[in-house]
Parts: sequence; structure tokens; C-alpha cells
Amino acid sequence: MDQTLVVLKPDAVQRGLIGEIVGRFEKRGFRIRKMRMLTFGHEIAADFYSPHAGKPFFSDLERFITSGPVVGIVLEGNNAVEVVRNMIGKTKSDEAISGTIRGDYALGYTDNIIHASDSVDSYIRESKIVFPENR
Ligand code: CMP
Repeated sequence: MDQTLVVLKPDAVQRGLIGEIVGRFEKRGFRIRKMRMLTFGHEIAADFYSPHAGKPFFSDLERFITSGPVVGIVLEGNNAVEVVRNMIGKTKSDEAISGTIRGDYALGYTDNIIHASDSVDSYIRESKIVFPENR
């Protein structure tokens, strides 16, 4: 069965949206295979977001993602990577359509509530960082 990783970012946790967002994935039919609350340190942040190293928004992103606890979740279901990416909506939240998670709860670019793996390869790499016991 297909799996993907989502990370509920510090703004989602701080705003009390964990249950709301997890509920959407459950109602869609995904199974929660793993779930963990953790706080990214700078080393984990740099590793997790290494594909974005050097981009103009990287230092803001690093500061934001290390600013408080996040929730990492492994979801399982048909075509998980693509379906979950469609459910979360566009990265730039002000462009995300209503009905998507970002479209309903966010307006920012850095503070956009949730991350989801963009490919199976990203899922494999990122899930080992959030759930290091899988290494
Ligand atoms: P995420 O899906 O976690 O992947 C990279 C993150 O960088 C993205 O969500 C945003 O939180 C952040 N980011 C901030 N500005 C931008 C931007 N202009 N383009 C892409 N990502 C951005």
C-alpha cells in the first residue's frame, strides 16, 4: 500500500489545528501508520530541507520550522503522495484553492501549515529523518 509523510508545521500546532487536519486525512480514507510530535533542531531542519538550501527563503524557513513542535505522520492509502499533495493545496497559501488544507487555514508562504512529500523518493528520504528508527 502507498505511503506518504506529512509534517504539521509549528503554526498548525500552535493554532490548535492538529485534530482538524488529521481528521481530514482519516475521513478521506487514509490510515495513520505513524505519528510523532517533535521539535526540529537546526541540524534536522537543514537535513530535511536540504533540497532548498541556498534559496532566498531558506533562512526564514529554517527559523520557522524550528520555532516550535511539529507533528510527523505517515499516511497510508491509494496513490498517497499525489492524493495528499492535492489535499494540501499550493505551497503559496494565498494561491491555494478553498477546500484544500492550505486554502482553508493559511495565507502565508513560509507559514503554510503543512508539508507533504512531493514524490516517493522524497517520502523515503524525509520519513527517515522524522522517524529515525527506520534508518
Ligand atoms: P514545504 O512544502 O514544506 O516546502 C518548502 C517550504 O519552503 C514551503 O513548504 C514553504 O514553507 C517554504 N517557502 C517559503 N517561501 C517559499 C517560496 N517562495 N517558494 C517555495 N517554498 C517557500
